[in-house]
Amino acid sequence: NGALGEIWDDEMSSTMLGKRLRKVVQNYQAMNKYGVQLSGSERATRRHKLSGPELLCQLKEMVQITTLTPEMKPFAGFSWASLLPQRPLTSDLGPFKTCAVVSSAGSLRNSGLGKEIDSHDTVVRFNAAPTAGFEKDVGSKTTVRLINSQVMASEDHHFLSSSLYSTGILVAWDPAPYSSDLNEWYNKTDYPIFKQYQRYRRLHPQQPFYILHPSVEWQLWRRVQDNMGEPIQKNPPSSGLLGTVLMMSLCDVVHVYEFLPSRRKTELCHYYQRFSDAACTLGAYHPLLYEKNLVKRMNQGSDRDIYTHGRVTLPGFSTFNC
Ligand code: C5P
Repeated sequence: NGALGEIWDDEMSSTMLGKRLRKVVQNYQAMNKYGVQLSGSERATRRHKLSGPELLCQLKEMVQITTLTPEMKPFAGFSWASLLPQRPLTSDLGPFKTCAVVSSAGSLRNSGLGKEIDSHDTVVRFNAAPTAGFEKDVGSKTTVRLINSQVMASEDHHFLSSSLYSTGILVAWDPAPYSSDLNEWYNKTDYPIFKQYQRYRRLHPQQPFYILHPSVEWQLWRRVQDNMGEPIQKNPPSSGLLGTVLMMSLCDVVHVYEFLPSRRKTELCHYYQRFSDAACTLGAYHPLLYEKNLVKRMNQGSDRDIYTHGRVTLPGFSTFNC
């Protein structure tokens, strides 16, 4: 794509990273904080590279969007279980026609994509990403906000009181043990997701608020690892990929913005902060580099869409048969 300048190459590997980042990635590849264990067949690296439609079928068949409900053990035995939604998210939400997934990348700055983003039926945003003051570039509609447990727990985000979190449907997740066993997770969350969930629900009882089942993150992680030629970080995928797959299960068409960087690509981490670090776009803790390879391969839009709009087009699971 010479004329277009550089866009994401779907065979990015850690060898293409700078020295510092390569080291960080290697450390995470070796660390295995969550006890990832692959069976023999899963460990073998794939010789044959799957096509976009084949990858889409894998995702549809092997990643089930599940959220916690009150009858699940061990929650069923807790008095606060009634704070959890009665029904899973996929029963309450959608189906939607068009959905926008707005990454928080610095390259959204000066994109002018706000109107286009808001024209979707549903808009997903992540963590502390604001719209106020950035409407021209990121729009103002927020239907779903996917948040990690770190945002819920850290002092500086003021999760319980900030108005940032009070619009739209909240969906939270926390890096869980690879077993995805709820009991094990409950006793070993990365951040106090359940304590914060209870507090938030009592303060905002009317706002829909779901918790992703940890099997989602690890099912998705396996799809990424299984389709890469090298070991990826043994940490869950980023919120961005989780949100993308969540919307693929609810929408006919999903447009993802600035997950694959456009011509505006920058080391600026978030469009709403001054902080710069290439790790935000290329990944350090999260296997973000490999997530992007997978998304690039599944993209049904043009390379030009990526270059000018940072836009990827993915079909919803209900729109194709495998
Ligand atoms: O940093 P945060 O996780 O809140 O950003 C939301 C998502 O946007 C990330 O999980 C990642 O998938 C994506 N992102 C990105 N490049 C950046 C910043 C964020 O791809 N520079």
